[in-house]
Amino acid sequence: MLKIKGLHAYYGSIEALKGIDLEVPDGQIRCIIGANGAGKTTILKSISRMVKTMGSIQWDGKELTEISSAKVAKEGIIHVPEGRHIFPGLTVYQNLEVGSIPWHGFFGRMSYDEDVEKVFNLFPRLRERRDQKGWSLSGGEQQMLAIGRALMARPKLLLLDEPSMGLAPLVVEELFQQIVAINKEQQVPILLIEQNAKLALNVSDYGYILEHGQINIEGPAKELKNDPRILEAYLGKFARK
Ligand SMILES: Nc1ncnc2c1ncn2[C@@H]1O[C@H](COP(=O)(O)OP(=O)(O)O)[C@@H](O)[C@H]1O
Ligand SMILES: [Mg+2]
Repeated sequence: MLKIKGLHAYYGSIEALKGIDLEVPDGQIRCIIGANGAGKTTILKSISRMVKTMGSIQWDGKELTEISSAKVAKEGIIHVPEGRHIFPGLTVYQNLEVGSIPWHGFFGRMSYDEDVEKVFNLFPRLRERRDQKGWSLSGGEQQMLAIGRALMARPKLLLLDEPSMGLAPLVVEELFQQIVAINKEQQVPILLIEQNAKLALNVSDYGYILEHGQINIEGPAKELKNDPRILEAYLGKFARK
């Protein structure tokens, strides 16, 4: 279980997070919804130790603020960043190999084909494109590869930063079915960042609404979907899906 208490984050003298409390219990999908610049990405960067913070971030009782970014990945917390960042010059298969590093080590050519097979079963389009270079994939396929690469690390917690960004609605629908499948079938808890509130609340157990570095509203996703404050501020704009 991830447990964040009183989290502040800073870029130089700018305070991007102003005292966040947030939890991700085992087995759940929880989402953070908020406008551009609210601080969503900064929450994930704080967990991954990529930004200066104050406050407590506990993972199964361990204090993450005391360890390095590489060690956070070794703890099984895997961050799929905004913009995907797959390796354009490597093939799909090679990108997946890189993902297995936290688990198998640089030279651990043991049994990752089994893990690759699991990823291909979840994302059959990646199997079809196994030997294609990263740059030649569509946006949706790149997002699948970024998530597939994260799965290669055998995550105990997945941090997903705006997976729907820039993708066509049908592609998003398919992708989100796969995200739910990862959670339900592999029991991986997920902290999901989205600007698309309706989409996020539809797949989540619980949601947090972030505004200017603070959580202003939180609750079970079912309740948030009917909350007039959220309907007005977040669901109107994205009511299409
Ligand atoms: N590297 C940075 N340097 C300075 N300010 C930053 C940096 N990254 C983000 N910020 C600021 O922190 C705030 C939160 O950013 P971010 O977490 O990226 O928001 P979101 O993901 O919700 O769009 C914004 O005001 C943004 O301008
Ligand atoms: Mg962001």
